Amino acid sequence: MPLHPNDSPGFLLWHATLRWQRGIAQALAPLDLTHVQFVLLACTWWLNEQGERPTQIALAAQAGTDIKMTSQVVRSVERKRLLEREIDAADTRARRLHVTKRGAELAVRAIAIVEQVDSEFFADVPERQALSFLRRSRSGRARRAEPDPAGAEMTRPGGEAEMMRAVRLRAPGGLDALALEQVEVPHVGPGEALVRVHAAAITRDELEWPLDRLPAIPSYELSGVVAAVAKDVSDLSAGDPVWGLMGFDRDGAAAEYAAVAASFLAPKPRTLGHVESAAVPLAGLTAWQGLFEHGRLREGERVLIHGAAGGVGQFATQLARWRGAHVVGTSSTAAAEEILALGAHQALDRSAVRFEDAIDRVDLVFDTVGGEVLARSAAILREGGRIVSVVGEPPPALLEKAEAIYFVVEPSRDQLLELARLVDDGAIRPLIDSVYPLVEARSAFERLTIPGKRGKVVLKIVDARCDGR
Ligand SMILES: NC(=O)c1ccc[n+]([C@@H]2O[C@H](COP(=O)([O-])OP(=O)(O)OC[C@H]3O[C@@H](n4cnc5c(N)ncnc54)[C@H](OP(=O)(O)O)[C@@H]3O)[C@@H](O)[C@H]2O)c1
Repeated sequence: MPLHPNDSPGFLLWHATLRWQRGIAQALAPLDLTHVQFVLLACTWWLNEQGERPTQIALAAQAGTDIKMTSQVVRSVERKRLLEREIDAADTRARRLHVTKRGAELAVRAIAIVEQVDSEFFADVPERQALSFLRRSRSGRARRAEPDPAGAEMTRPGGEAEMMRAVRLRAPGGLDALALEQVEVPHVGPGEALVRVHAAAITRDELEWPLDRLPAIPSYELSGVVAAVAKDVSDLSAGDPVWGLMGFDRDGAAAEYAAVAASFLAPKPRTLGHVESAAVPLAGLTAWQGLFEHGRLREGERVLIHGAAGGVGQFATQLARWRGAHVVGTSSTAAAEEILALGAHQALDRSAVRFEDAIDRVDLVFDTVGGEVLARSAAILREGGRIVSVVGEPPPALLEKAEAIYFVVEPSRDQLLELARLVDDGAIRPLIDSVYPLVEARSAFERLTIPGKRGKVVLKIVDARCDGR
């Protein structure tokens, strides 16, 4: 026998939806916004906050609205001077959307109002996990449950594990051993946070690192939003935008979620979106630790940076200049201008000159190239000079001539806070070579090996969704 309408889940959902929509409409009326105007304004505002200027098509995809309807509503919001459409410089048929100052202020107020209505409406839902049903029905596939206050399990009520997309390396080294797979959302252990990864950056040679724990998820630096924390974590909460360098002994960040020691995470820079933020932690911390901790670089000293336009080198160049050193960088011919733009006093074209013959001696060599470049570096040192390499152990012959060390970067919240401050003050900026979606991870790793790369290669995992706040 069919269920009575009062007992039918679909019927109940229909009525609940109507009640919820009425509540939202009433709450938004004083702001002169309809519900759909709110959704598109809030989405555009949020995308802009992430550094994106979406087209109407991209906005419709994010908001889950019909394209024609989106176009009409965007015009109505534009007439209210809450957002503007600009012609895309690269494709003049497309319009890029951004909120006006008034639109941004209204979006923030409206989001707070809608969140208040939501929290009152759902106050009676005893287990927040029950809301995971709504997330699943939105995306049509399994998504994470609401943060579990115990932080121990990320499972659906039926006990089935939450799944996510992740890139995995199945054999050492090769691009062919990379695949996009469905794997379990990682469990959050004591002292950890589960991060919804928005973007993750990758590093040359890193596919060689996880030899003893395959299959492994690569990428060790991320920017994203905290989804859940373990119960012993008190300094982070769900919803916090964070960045960080992960430990190298476990699965990385080329995935929709990553479990990270909370002490390795810090608030991401306010002035960068997730894609740019993801490009900083590993390379920025490597440069910081190499120059200032291991290299003891002081104001007024001279430093030579091998590979100054690369992922690590770009930050070494900027940080050494910020410290007040005289900076010389080496690169290929095409990158020389870039190095000067990053703040180097002098750029050496490595194909045209030998660094030993071209410049005065230096107090510190910071090496991101290795091999014979590292081996030759003692010849350019002043008395008491130091060599720091991030590529490999200095050969014994070099150690006889100079103080030289190799080190591996370590996560540090304090240094991330310092780097975020420098970014927000405009003292340093990430140079991004290219951005790939997760599904093109192989091409991204291939790009690392191709000459002419400048700065970092980033995987963009969340396409700046409106639900990522
Ligand atoms: N130990 C650690 O903790 C640590 C941390 C991060 C990275 N790493 C390692 O450090 C290395 C560099 O990383 P990365 O992300 O900066 O790599 P990258 O982005 O590929 O940068 C290396 C740069 O070196 C330049 N280069 C290549 N051959 C050169 C040569 N013969 N002489 C001078 N410059 C040369 C390249 O630029 P041009 O072609 O323009 O010269 C390139 O930009 C990688 O092996 C990575 O795995 C280690």
